[in-house]
Amino acid sequence: MKELGYFDGEFITLDTAKVRLEDRGYEFGDGIYEASRIYNGTSFALARHLERYRRSMRELQIPITDTDEEMIALHEELIQKSQIKNGTIYFQLTRGTAPRTHYFPEKMMPHLSMVIRESAVHSDWQENGIHASLEEDVRWLRCDIKTLNLLGNVLAKQSAHKKGYQEAILYRKEANLITEGSSSNFFLVKDGVLWTHPLNNLILKGVTRSIIVEKCAPKFDLTIVEKAFSPEFAYSAEEAFVTSTTLEVTPVTFINRHQIGNGEPGKVTRQLLQAYHEIIAQECSKK
Ligand code: PDD
Repeated sequence: MKELGYFDGEFITLDTAKVRLEDRGYEFGDGIYEASRIYNGTSFALARHLERYRRSMRELQIPITDTDEEMIALHEELIQKSQIKNGTIYFQLTRGTAPRTHYFPEKMMPHLSMVIRESAVHSDWQENGIHASLEEDVRWLRCDIKTLNLLGNVLAKQSAHKKGYQEAILYRKEANLITEGSSSNFFLVKDGVLWTHPLNNLILKGVTRSIIVEKCAPKFDLTIVEKAFSPEFAYSAEEAFVTSTTLEVTPVTFINRHQIGNGEPGKVTRQLLQAYHEIIAQECSKK
């Protein structure tokens, strides 16, 4: 199987049409999501994804329905039933279904759905680097919550895509400061120091970002500065890269027409990617 869904307690094929018309996720984007990766038939960093999922629920005041154990069991069941070895599991939780009112209706039953899909990591992007565009960050001021409201991200990625680029790097125009990628966190290396935006309301606390900061960078004694920087500062960096569940660590060799460093994936980026792959191999060794 290449894909499989979970909806209303049942495992279903993705062509089964099943969306409740008055689901608040559908009408308001009133819900949250996570995307995790499967390597060798094993979920990677699922505990970190579930921790962020719980935080998103708390921030949006969506009551807890499934326990972590139940969520882990659902992930395992999807992997087992689909027989997918390498892919992604997307899951989302909406506040539930009710006649449309902006305030939260009472007695809402949150609604969980999931999709597992076979997919490979872009190793060519990791080897050669990607080209990114710089786009204005027009999103709301709670980018720390992983909500279904992604139009600011979608429009930025589409703008990059139209130019033939693979990612959009977002910046807040008033402050002239880079925040993150449209679906990734952004890092750069300058004078041997690793720079990335601090964790606050303007970026998502990426699971990959956390693993890089907590586990990979210390292996190389890298100094990390968690401080916002301008696009001009980024253009003068030696190396730049983005991190995400799907991109892992992917070098950024151009931002618009600006070449980063010598225009090739840098040494620190390659070291961090290798360290990240080692952590994956430890956690998801072949069964
Ligand atoms: N996106 N920032 C944004 C805005 C993101 O959408 C993502 C991930 C990240 C990186 O987070 P993580 O390392 O936990 O994947 C940062 C996922 C992959 C998505 O929307 O599909």
